[in-house]
Amino acid sequence: MKFNVMVVDDEKNIRAGLGKAIELDGHNVILAEDGQHALEELENEEIDLIIADLKMPRVSGEELLRRVVESYPTLPVIILTGHGTIETAVQAMRDGAYDFLTKPVNLDRLSLLVRRALSTRELALQHRALQEELEQKRQFSSIIGASAEMNRIFDVVRQVAPTRASVLITGESGVGKELIADAIHNLSNRKEKPFVKVHCAALSENLLESELFGHEKGAFTGAVARKRGRFELAHMGSIFLDEIGEIDQSVQIKILRVLQEKMFERVGGEQTLDVDVRIVSATNKDLKGAIESGEFREDLYYRLNVVNIHIPPLRERKEDIPLLVAAFIREFATENEKPVEGIDAKARALLYNYSWPGNVRELRNSIESAVVMSKGSIITPDDLPPTIAADSESNYVRIQLGATIADAERELIRANLAANNGNKSRTAEVLGIGRKTLHRKLAEYEMES
Ligand SMILES: Nc1ncnc2c1ncn2[C@@H]1O[C@H](COP(=O)(O)OP(=O)(O)OP(=O)(O)O)[C@@H](O)[C@H]1O
Ligand SMILES: [Mg+2]
Repeated sequence: MKFNVMVVDDEKNIRAGLGKAIELDGHNVILAEDGQHALEELENEEIDLIIADLKMPRVSGEELLRRVVESYPTLPVIILTGHGTIETAVQAMRDGAYDFLTKPVNLDRLSLLVRRALSTRELALQHRALQEELEQKRQFSSIIGASAEMNRIFDVVRQVAPTRASVLITGESGVGKELIADAIHNLSNRKEKPFVKVHCAALSENLLESELFGHEKGAFTGAVARKRGRFELAHMGSIFLDEIGEIDQSVQIKILRVLQEKMFERVGGEQTLDVDVRIVSATNKDLKGAIESGEFREDLYYRLNVVNIHIPPLRERKEDIPLLVAAFIREFATENEKPVEGIDAKARALLYNYSWPGNVRELRNSIESAVVMSKGSIITPDDLPPTIAADSESNYVRIQLGATIADAERELIRANLAANNGNKSRTAEVLGIGRKTLHRKLAEYEMES
């Protein structure tokens, strides 16, 4: 992708030099001689990155930064500073600059920073495109996913839905097993018929049996009338046996019989009933392990698992995160009548880097709370639940593969200086080097005199 990078500096030579270097990296360059000119350009052209000097006539770099942060929150700004002014740079970072470069600019570092800033920008653009395309991208109306893994799952769902094959959906809690089960039923020719859901773990053995197969009047204490079971109710439709790994052996046998012979009796009943029911089941348990330990019947497992759909955890399909975030923002903004429209780069990075032990359910809840907590139109790290914000990316240094040791060292020094508000003693201490060594390195890397 070709990006538009704007270089803002009142010194013509610097402007042209930086422009040339960025052009050589394959980007479009727009030159502006001061902040005022830059603001005008922003109205004409979609800019992806600004590199701006601080001291300029008319509108200064600080003012430009302030206006950009306010009006173009996803547009990164890299600040140019003179020698020995690390404090101003740190201030600019606090005001929302993406990063800073000291003059004279080291072109390798420029190239590295531009690449990094633009990849952040690319994510932001993707997010916006996703927002716009969300309607079309929604699979089966409510399941969202763009990763290769989810697309494979959608293919399997489409293929298997119209058949009568039993489907076992596996995956960690909160990955969307129930949504996939819904899709299977809704894309089948049974969709006009009942889709009956049974939460197997919630019921004791006896209750589960009577729930599934029904009972005759007087079958047990409390059975005051004949009651139809879920299998009967699901006749011609589908049944969803959720948490199938939790059911007892006695019920396992009966379900096996329904699968093999399509027949069962009500609890306490003589009459054999036959049903035509499609079985979809789900578990977050390791059924293979349960078979080995003798808790789960192997024959039932194979009958249930004619087709297996395994949904990988969210941390293994991070490409889905931006799309899910976009969808959930929209959903909860509408529901809560809040003007939230997006998310800033930092918060997005936090969501992207978090490990999501609770998968999509946790992401959905986090976005709901962020939307509710949000004070403006953009979600920021402060709006996110503390567990996610605590995992903060600001405590990490990103080093591009292929960077040299010197690049990495420079980056470490820069990040630690920024984290310590420019305090060199503290930074040297954190880095485990002497103050003198730090000064020497700052000079060597042209970061400061
Ligand atoms: N791909 C997705 N697109 C949109 N929403 C999703 C997606 N996956 C999961 N969700 C949402 O996340 C929540 C959890 O999904 P679901 O109940 O299907 O998970 P599960 O795998 O059945 O979890 P558990 O094992 O805990 O029952 C629901 O609110 C669901 O709508
Ligand atoms: Mg579930």
